[in-house]
Amino acid sequence: MKNRILIIDDDFDFVDAVKTLLEANGYDVSLAYDGHDGFQKIKSESPELIILDMMMTYKTEGADIAKTISQDAATKDIPVLLITGAKKDMNFPFDFEPDENNLPVKAVLEKPIKPEELLKMVTTYIRQTGDKHRILVEGLKSLVDKWSGKKGKLIMILHEIQNHYGYVPRAISFELSRLLDTPLARIYEVITFYNFFKLVPPGKHLISVCMGTACYLKGAQKVLNELKKMLKIEEGQTTKDGLFHLQVVRCLGCCGLAPVIMIDDKVFAKVDKDKIVGIITDYREKQDEK
Ligand code: FES
Repeated sequence: MKNRILIIDDDFDFVDAVKTLLEANGYDVSLAYDGHDGFQKIKSESPELIILDMMMTYKTEGADIAKTISQDAATKDIPVLLITGAKKDMNFPFDFEPDENNLPVKAVLEKPIKPEELLKMVTTYIRQTGDKHRILVEGLKSLVDKWSGKKGKLIMILHEIQNHYGYVPRAISFELSRLLDTPLARIYEVITFYNFFKLVPPGKHLISVCMGTACYLKGAQKVLNELKKMLKIEEGQTTKDGLFHLQVVRCLGCCGLAPVIMIDDKVFAKVDKDKIVGIITDYREKQDEK
């Protein structure tokens, strides 16, 4: 399967030249001549890279589209090469410094662009599809075949993916969108509608804070607040180091020990602010020893 690149630019000559260049180098190229059409195609075609003109119907349209891409869960990982007539005239409407970690804009290229420079940028930033990726696609194909023609196949496939990985990785959603010929936005609609599906890897340890009546009356809210503060996450989130995932539950069935938290399958009774600090510190120290 060829890597797909979407060019969004109202400069017909530039689009023609770049399309020819990229196709000659083995890419599948899709075109859009304005921002609106461009964003629809981003969502429906899931390209591996976007070449985006800065100034189309207005001066900062490209930057606005890049911002929209970065705010949408279905598109935020797609790398963007921003094309401009003159870098110095750019006036970004949002805080932006192109670098490798700043998604989605990876580089700003000034016209006229040398073909070799453009190709270098494309090969540097296009979402990687090496052997690992081919294996992943093969696995997905057999999953899609297994559920082919069956009712509710998208949900069943997503269930299998979630059970395997513990979440639905973005790269898999992208490929699934192609294999099922279903817009990526539709796949994300399903993922975000059902609580069961997760978009981020689960933490190594699952912390369940009981907010049932008995625990609530004995100060569970304070316990939850302390955990959020210590871990710097909200309910439903995972810590940056991937060590803890925080969730709230209703009654763990040991109300006499309220307030209660559970970490994985271990129950901690009558917890308070000080105990929480000790418990979390213990887990972190054990992790450091490994
Ligand atoms: S209310 Fe918390 S264990 Fe029952």
